[in-house]
Amino acid sequence: MRQIFIAGNWKMNKTLAEAKAFAEELKAKMPETEHALAVMAPFTDLPLLTVALAGTGIGVGAQNVHFEESGAYTGEISPLMLRELGVSYCIVGHSERRTYFAETDDTVNRKLLALHAAGIRPIVCVGESLEIREAGNAMSFVAGQIAAAFEGLTPEQAAETVIAYEPIWAIGTGKTATPEQAEEMCGFIRGMMEGLYDEVVAEKIIIQYGGSMKPSNAGDLLAKPNIDGGLIGGASLKVDDLLAILEAAPKQA
Ligand code: PGA
Repeated sequence: MRQIFIAGNWKMNKTLAEAKAFAEELKAKMPETEHALAVMAPFTDLPLLTVALAGTGIGVGAQNVHFEESGAYTGEISPLMLRELGVSYCIVGHSERRTYFAETDDTVNRKLLALHAAGIRPIVCVGESLEIREAGNAMSFVAGQIAAAFEGLTPEQAAETVIAYEPIWAIGTGKTATPEQAEEMCGFIRGMMEGLYDEVVAEKIIIQYGGSMKPSNAGDLLAKPNIDGGLIGGASLKVDDLLAILEAAPKQA
């Protein structure tokens, strides 16, 4: 049985003081849970969060990484730097990075390989624009992103990768994909993993939905068999909202 994985994506939000307050409140309110929870924070918050949340079972992740170990890449952060901080996850290929920061299928692939080499679990984002969906090409578009992202990954690395299906038209818009639309794509992605690898990888890999997930719609989305979690932007900025989403996830035990 796959564990449900709820990951907050703070994006460019929360100063150090705000991150500290969030971590204290989260620790105080964290319920007993069978599900996994993590927060993907700005680089500047990571040293504090890895210490503040150590021993709680709550994971800490970054939102981007460079694919080289070190070198002349002004302004960049390497997988080794993240590993030394005790970071467990890293988002790769978020649509905002693909759109505003020239992230390509090739850099996404290199980052996945570099993160696996460093022992950090990537959360790779895929998803189509409204234009692509309306043209009826959503699945072929996502299939292309997945095939490129997983190029050269071993079955073990693939199974340890988290995929976040985030339709661009649902991110930060308040427009959620219906549970049926999200399930259709997540099921398609799982089928693709079986084709690229095998049934074991397909069964094991965690596929999240992201895009305006909130306490009121999380239960229906997470009840779908191929949706194993959520990548939560706006609703992850408040402890109560993030925990309400965690609580909305179906109990498996
Ligand atoms: P949202 O963002 O929940 O604010 O739509 C999701 C994401 O971009 O990861």
